[in-house]
Amino acid sequence: MSGGGTVITIDGPAGSGKTTVARMLARRLGWGLLESGSLYRAFTWILLREAPRLLESPEETAVANFLRGILPDLRCELGEEGLRIYFRGRRLSEELRAPETEARVSEVAALGAVRRLVNEILRGLVRERDAVAEGRDMGSVVFPEARYKFYLTASPEVRARRRYLEWKAKGLEVSEKEVLEGIKARDHKDSSRREAPLSIPEGAVVIDTSELSPEEVLRRVLAYIE
Ligand code: CDP
Repeated sequence: MSGGGTVITIDGPAGSGKTTVARMLARRLGWGLLESGSLYRAFTWILLREAPRLLESPEETAVANFLRGILPDLRCELGEEGLRIYFRGRRLSEELRAPETEARVSEVAALGAVRRLVNEILRGLVRERDAVAEGRDMGSVVFPEARYKFYLTASPEVRARRRYLEWKAKGLEVSEKEVLEGIKARDHKDSSRREAPLSIPEGAVVIDTSELSPEEVLRRVLAYIE
């Protein structure tokens, strides 16, 4: 194992299981787990809290300039269990999965200038430690030279069911229908945006996880890389 710069990418839509499998893989390899969505979520949460007016009709340069301005207050650590993000010393965790963050993150992630900032941070982090990078555009845009690339997918209904069960377990009151609508809306925004739309990266191995357990997906991933 080298001490940085080696990347395996796992991309796919919400609920495809990429986060679960990326986590299992990172643990197995002892590598960092780079959850790029967390950074988009963190920026969305910070904007909602510190500059909600910028989100009224988001202008990419203004939003990115604001975010560059708060960088000294932001700290990111690439751990095996994921990206640890601190804002003014406070570790962000539940905030990143809050429904308000969830509802606005695709809009923030659609801004090209924000994506460039996120990508700079992500590339800096993997210089220090080998990583499994998980997101929408890891294999296509951020790490096109990755050692291995995977793209996970599943039907919208299966993905909504997974997300619904996750939220229910946390005690959140949502209906499965609402979750499905949210997933479809996010799919649409992520796939139709001009900047880095969700797509299968060149050279990626595609795995449909609809009928597979996380362990089975991991087994297939390992079969490719071992
Ligand atoms: O797995 P899930 O989609 O629920 O969450 P996530 O991976 O944390 O991503 C949240 C949102 O961030 C996505 O819907 C995308 O809009 C955006 N995102 C992105 O644009 N590019 C990435 N590499 C990762 C996330």
